[in-house]
Amino acid sequence: MEQRKVLLIGGGGREHALAHALSKSSLLDKLYITPGNPGTAQHGENVSLDINEFDDVVDFCEDHHIDLVIVGPEQPLVEGITDYLHDYGIKVFGPTKGAAMLEGSKSYAKSIMQKYNIPTAGSEVFERHEVSKLDAYLAEEVRFPVVIKVDGLAAGKGVFICNDIDQAREYIDKIMNDVDLSAAAPLIVVEEFMQGEEVSVFAISDGSTAHYLMHAQDHKRIGDGDTGLNTGGMGAYAPAPVLTEQMRDHVMKTIVQPTIDGMAQEETPYLGILYVGLMMTADGPKVVEYNCRFGDPEAQVILPAIKSDVLELMITAVNGKLEYVSLDIDTDYYCSVVLASKGYPGSYEKGKIITGLNDLPEDVYVYHSGTEMSEEGQLLTKGGRVLNVVGSGSSLKEAIDNAYAGVAAISFDGAYHRKDIGAKGLAHFNK
Ligand code: AMP
Ligand code: GLY
Repeated sequence: MEQRKVLLIGGGGREHALAHALSKSSLLDKLYITPGNPGTAQHGENVSLDINEFDDVVDFCEDHHIDLVIVGPEQPLVEGITDYLHDYGIKVFGPTKGAAMLEGSKSYAKSIMQKYNIPTAGSEVFERHEVSKLDAYLAEEVRFPVVIKVDGLAAGKGVFICNDIDQAREYIDKIMNDVDLSAAAPLIVVEEFMQGEEVSVFAISDGSTAHYLMHAQDHKRIGDGDTGLNTGGMGAYAPAPVLTEQMRDHVMKTIVQPTIDGMAQEETPYLGILYVGLMMTADGPKVVEYNCRFGDPEAQVILPAIKSDVLELMITAVNGKLEYVSLDIDTDYYCSVVLASKGYPGSYEKGKIITGLNDLPEDVYVYHSGTEMSEEGQLLTKGGRVLNVVGSGSSLKEAIDNAYAGVAAISFDGAYHRKDIGAKGLAHFNK
């Protein structure tokens, strides 16, 4: 294959991990990242584009002869960047607007799961103006706890677990009155509460063939023991032992492939990374949610395990030829601990000097999330989640220990991290 010029969209830890993986490809001619961060700048050229202005992205691609655009985050995918670029003949690794609805609309995702017999929680959908019908349903027909969700993207803030009717009413009130939540809630989904351990399965698809990549477990809460507020994710590890190899094959056969087949049948074939959030219930794995991209921080522990050429895989997917390839995934474990700014996910200060990145132990790699380089060349904090410290090893314990050895080497004023990333995974080995 000839070499490619690639534009990667995004600027978080996931995109640093993607840039790192792409930079190892023999097929890469030139990598641009927008907006990128000081981490991605180690692997390519950061460029400043307004990615909400799809025309600007088209102009950049035409001026720089971009052969492939890779989209990291969900927002541009859900808004249709793929379709827009396709209209100009630009190739994109990432689903179209119709296919990205698996993440962009929870009621749509539910309808696909129902239609194609994909195991998930039972649910009912209400329109926004049907508040009294919704109230009657909650008062008379459901068994608590229930989960109430806004239909659209809500940056992780649109899911409410309600233990009783009073809590449910309080949340519905919040959905109706909060400007951002309201915008995401033309529809409201009420879902049965599922009990179990969560795990996320990642697959790559060209629209008909899907290959398993890896499965990982995120840590969404800010505090140890899964306490406190929800965050973008405070750490992850892979592979997560909660999903055995046998169960993994079962998930590919009963959940991932039927989703891909269903989307093809709907004439919205799904091309890209499919991220399936699962609950391991007593009745087997059930879908909690679909996402139309890599997770962040999950990408930081998945991409290092893929020994196949990631760019080649993406090009093969875009060409619809995944059925002819097999993947090389290594057998090591990976663990990523997020270093966050004090105060996150609430307000936090920026501009703190980061030290220690040049003295990392072996088997440790650091992906940047919210950092910036000062004019004097000093690395500073710039976000809530600042760095992802990734350790690897031939056992989960070794990967965790390596990640925390890395954490100990790095410092900035107010640095915070969870102390228990991977602990749930280790507990499986002690059962
Ligand atoms: P979602 O955005 O749909 O992934 O929901 C965010 C989080 O809420 C999930 O990762 C789960 O921890 C929790 N959650 C969502 N739906 C359910 C459910 N039906 N039962 C139990 N927990 C849920
Ligand atoms: N780590 C959760 C997500 O990327 O949605």
